[in-house]
Amino acid sequence: MRLALSFVLPLLAVLALIAYATIPLFDSLTLRWSVRDLEVRSRLVANTLGEPLTRLLDENSNQKIVKYFEAVTRDERLFAIAYCGENGREVKTPNFPSQISCATHIDENSSILRVKNGSLHIALDTVTDLPGHLVLVHDMSFVERRSSDTRKYLFYLFGALGLVISLVTVVVAQLNWHRLLSKMKGLVRGGAIVKRLSQIDSPELLPLAKDLRVLIRDIETERLARDENQISWTPAALKKILNEELAGDEIMIVSNREPYIHNFKNGKIEAQFPASGLVTALEPVMRACSGTWIAHGSGSADKEVVDKYDRVRVPPDKPSYQIRRVWFSKEEELGYYYGFSNEGLWPLCHMAYTRPVFRTSDWEQYKTVNQKFADVVVEEARTDDPVILVQDYHLALLPGLIRKRLPKATIITFWHIPWPNPETFGICPWREEILAGMLGSSILGFHTRYHCNNFIDTIDRYLEARIDRETSTVSHRGKLTAIKSYPISIEWPGKFINAEKSAVESARDIRLRNDLSKDILLGVGVDRLDYTKGILERFLAVERLLELHNEWIGKFSFVQIAAPSRSSIEQYQNFEGEVRAMAARINSRFGRSGYQPIVLKIEHHSPDQVFEYFRASDVCMVTSLHDGMNLVAKEFVASRDDERGSLILSQFTGASRELQAALIVNPYDIDQCAKALHMALSMPEEEQRERMRSMRGLLQEFNVYRWAGRMLIDASRIRQQNRLSGRIQDTEFTI
Ligand code: G6P
Repeated sequence: MRLALSFVLPLLAVLALIAYATIPLFDSLTLRWSVRDLEVRSRLVANTLGEPLTRLLDENSNQKIVKYFEAVTRDERLFAIAYCGENGREVKTPNFPSQISCATHIDENSSILRVKNGSLHIALDTVTDLPGHLVLVHDMSFVERRSSDTRKYLFYLFGALGLVISLVTVVVAQLNWHRLLSKMKGLVRGGAIVKRLSQIDSPELLPLAKDLRVLIRDIETERLARDENQISWTPAALKKILNEELAGDEIMIVSNREPYIHNFKNGKIEAQFPASGLVTALEPVMRACSGTWIAHGSGSADKEVVDKYDRVRVPPDKPSYQIRRVWFSKEEELGYYYGFSNEGLWPLCHMAYTRPVFRTSDWEQYKTVNQKFADVVVEEARTDDPVILVQDYHLALLPGLIRKRLPKATIITFWHIPWPNPETFGICPWREEILAGMLGSSILGFHTRYHCNNFIDTIDRYLEARIDRETSTVSHRGKLTAIKSYPISIEWPGKFINAEKSAVESARDIRLRNDLSKDILLGVGVDRLDYTKGILERFLAVERLLELHNEWIGKFSFVQIAAPSRSSIEQYQNFEGEVRAMAARINSRFGRSGYQPIVLKIEHHSPDQVFEYFRASDVCMVTSLHDGMNLVAKEFVASRDDERGSLILSQFTGASRELQAALIVNPYDIDQCAKALHMALSMPEEEQRERMRSMRGLLQEFNVYRWAGRMLIDASRIRQQNRLSGRIQDTEFTI
């Protein structure tokens, strides 16, 4: 409609202008034709008058002549007549205009006289046999009437013309626009335009092709964002995407950590949900997708519960997918998991100033275990083109190994931890092998754009590869990998949100259980016992708070839940010692009978226990020194359906880019963290509510189903393009 109006209105205006400019021309034409008419008419009248007038002149009766003239001028157009005879004889009708007389000069026998009510046409005619001449005056008002009629019709004509032209043009344009749009959409979806544009090699067209590529990508990103925004992201929506976009395709997740660990406890087998951001995020996705999750069987009772194919159906209470367990020897676990993954890559990728250790023997085990996982993937695959979601830094070589065996597979690798800059990564002795292994992926995902850029810069520095920064793709050995950011999130609404206990009841119970006074304000931290999490800095901030604001002594306690983690590694053992020592020091400095500023709980807590702590607390501290995302921050927000509580969040977490209504701190700045703690503890309820509401709104919109959905939609697009091009190698695609 807007398009139609924006075209029709200017067209009508132009036509009106044309009409306006043409009117004087039409007026003068009408006048000229009318004057010619009147001249002919005058001659006719003069000739008709000739004979009777001769007779009357002979009678010499001016009176009779006037009467005769009056009878003749009854004609509506003939207005007045005068006879101009010899010796100045003038006989005229009484209404003869006073402005003219027989002496008046009349041009070429006729002229026009303007009078008050219009115009008069004056014609001078001689009549044979008469000594004088006649002056015939015509009323020209009919000419004006004729002109105004013509003007009116002209306007109608142009108006109608304008409407018809506009209508036809708009209809034709609409038809063509729709056809063009659907063609463009098809081309953009198929990546054909971009592909063709990338083949342009004439130098003068290159800038244009580049601009067009960027434009098309922007349009496509906008369309995708629009499409994404329209979906309400639930498990059902994710299932629908799987059915529609990846109809019947096999989905596999491969990670080191398994979602359920079966352990012997007091002679019984118990399923434990591990403290892992990766598992927290992917478990609800797998529940929605079904499929197979391939992971290390690390539990003491894991072998007891699997079938003969090493598979077990989970979740234990309501099975909806299966875990395929992979077994490691002691050496493999030491070298691959504790050694290269957690003493090498983990400190390498986190800027927490812990020195990475690289041992060749660890690297050898890392390669062996990655190969083991690749063999299991091939064994589990029922088709030659499954969708495989490879998780994290333990499996950097896996994408390349799978690609060799299942060239048609769609491999989406997600790196859950930060990616450092090229200098930092460059100290890894096997950097080229790791980068090449990762580039076996069809899509390589990081939490933030910043980590994607670091990765691309690293490739640029250490590998022979073709990088397209515009489309964020890397082509290596004829295989294209898209590098994309997918900020991970949590399940929304969370599975514990319908917990029977209200936040007030949780607050009461937690205080009771920990021997805390019932009106004490509570802070909480929930982490794996890991040196990247900023636990020591957090304790220092609590100590500084009590130093600066002694009104909080006895009125505020901080509960630190720390799940033991990677405890065979020396740094982790040392770290646990440091954490215990610092908590003890602060407690002895500010604690007194019945009051401990820090309550340290180094033990595993189940998700529902953690959830209860979140709901019982007034403030949650997430002070990681460096973190890919940190889902604890998001889970705390999700647990607070009462819109109470404050979140203190490190600026070095991926989550701080999204949860901007948190109190964002630099964990190394202890004074700033203490100030944030004081602010959080004194924050008015209304402000807590506003901040919580804003963060909860964001999580509701960007939940883990959307995270997975976006990757799967991208995977489906790549599969379509691969099918279209009919080849897997060196395929050009855009996502
Ligand atoms: C981080 C890693 C995960 C890992 C988790 C727990 O979140 O990104 O891959 O599972 O830590 O560590 P763990 O060594 O116990 O699996």
